[in-house]
Amino acid sequence: MTGPVLIFDSGVGGLSVAQSLRQHYPDAAMCYACDNAWLPYGLREDAALTERIVAVCRTAVEACQPRVLVVACNTASTLALENLREQLAIPVVGTVPAIKPAAALSQTRHIGLLATKATVGRPYTQHLIDSFASDCLITRVAADGLVKEAEAHLAGKAPNIERIQAALAPLWQAAAPSIANAALDTVVLGCTHFPLLKSWLTQLAPVPLHWVDSGDAIARRVAQVVDGLNHRQQQDGRCFTTAPAANLTVGLARYGFQTPQLLSITR
Ligand code: DGL
Repeated sequence: MTGPVLIFDSGVGGLSVAQSLRQHYPDAAMCYACDNAWLPYGLREDAALTERIVAVCRTAVEACQPRVLVVACNTASTLALENLREQLAIPVVGTVPAIKPAAALSQTRHIGLLATKATVGRPYTQHLIDSFASDCLITRVAADGLVKEAEAHLAGKAPNIERIQAALAPLWQAAAPSIANAALDTVVLGCTHFPLLKSWLTQLAPVPLHWVDSGDAIARRVAQVVDGLNHRQQQDGRCFTTAPAANLTVGLARYGFQTPQLLSITR
């Protein structure tokens, strides 16, 4: 199998996964595709979104000819992984909230799930909780506003701290000891955009917390699925978007990706 690893997200969140892959496998060739015309995915209706994700991924796979597709988006993976695997002839690696590692870390058995509105409510997410954290209290926080903050950050804008604080308020409340519940001690970053804001999240937290994302697990999974990821490959770095994204060019370059080319989605 040849070809790069194709990383797909609605927006710039997949760059957090690209970063983990690069840390583990610096010689792996990668290209990047994002559906910024439909961003944010977390507030879209399921049936239309599934169709859209399949259409964009098929077009991106045709353009990029990858050896594997990494769906670096929890909102897309918890909805459309099966459809993608049915429709594509290459392996598909998904990104889902890191409930299992969080449950292994939490001492208080109280975990926060910070994700999009769609991901916190999905049956797939409930299944992960039932399977790996059934003895834990889970405080689910839909923080779709943070997606916008991460996009702005990549475009070189200073984040709006008040908006970040407002999105995180339910987590901070759960992290304070109460008579009813043990304090939350671990937070799952269940949206790939959120690790891009991690330095603000950790600074704003009123107490030290474990922050868990899926990046390292995905890097390991990709290496299981394709051979030779740690052998030197011809670097790729192509980048595809579904809407013009000149404002992201500098940010994408910091992650090793070229000026984006426009994908035309006809289906
Ligand atoms: N990065 C995506 C995720 O991991 C979500 C962003 C969006 O709502 O489009 O869920």
